[in-house]
Amino acid sequence: MSIGGAQLSSSSPRHIAIIMDGNGRWAARRGLSPSAGHKAGVERIRDLLSACRGRGVEALTLFAFSSENWQRPPKEVELLMSLFHSYLRKEARRMCDEGVRLRVIGRRDRFSPRLQRAIAEAEEITRQGRQGDLVIAADYGGRWDITQAARQLAKQVASGERSVDSIDEQALDSNMQLADLPPVDLLIRSSGEQRISNFILWQAAYSELYFTDTLWPDFDEAALDAAIAAFQQRDRRFGGRTDEGNTAAQA
Ligand code: IPE
Ligand code: IPE
Ligand code: MG
Repeated sequence: MSIGGAQLSSSSPRHIAIIMDGNGRWAARRGLSPSAGHKAGVERIRDLLSACRGRGVEALTLFAFSSENWQRPPKEVELLMSLFHSYLRKEARRMCDEGVRLRVIGRRDRFSPRLQRAIAEAEEITRQGRQGDLVIAADYGGRWDITQAARQLAKQVASGERSVDSIDEQALDSNMQLADLPPVDLLIRSSGEQRISNFILWQAAYSELYFTDTLWPDFDEAALDAAIAAFQQRDRRFGGRTDEGNTAAQA
């Protein structure tokens, strides 16, 4: 898929995933509550999406709320849910106009019926988008994802649709979220933490990891460019040997 008028560099990441972390610290440094940080964080998404489109990125996956984030104080969870709801209501139409297809990955059954409806509507409104994909991971966990894929395969075995021996990496992979999108080339985490926090455990097997101290509400186009520039310097070997390795004395 090509993104409208973009300069496509051969080594541009096709799919970027981001752990949007640091809202709380951003707010605390200003003497504000975490809510203010989350509000500022949501504001970053629109610009970032269009910056990605302008750089030939086909898919952007954002970690918005983890399976474990329910452990936050109830007031904070409530605020995050309400921000998610208003984001979907506000942005779906714009995404549709820009040809961006939105999808939400994660468990949905723990969201309020109202939020579940807003998710379904936003996905429906943007369904025809062919200019790029925005994926929002909400109530998502990498372990949940692997578990739900295993459960689907188990059901198929139980119903006689497939044999146990047909279960291989490809079978599991095709039942995981994001299976239909290009592999995640670049996984970014803001705020200085260097961990995955139960994000895309399976899909990140060969993603390039990029950690920046920038807090999410400060993550702007320049920060994105720095991440992409770092990605373009990486030598991706996927377990093999590239020319660079071969120019040294032959083994
Ligand atoms: C990330 O910001 C947003 C969510 C987890 C929903 P945090 O709220 O985790 O920010 P810090 O880590 O406390 O700074
Ligand atoms: C990961 O951030 C989840 C999201 C950014 C949505 P957390 O702030 O929840 O992760 P930990 O607790 O620092 O590992
Ligand atoms: Mg955090």
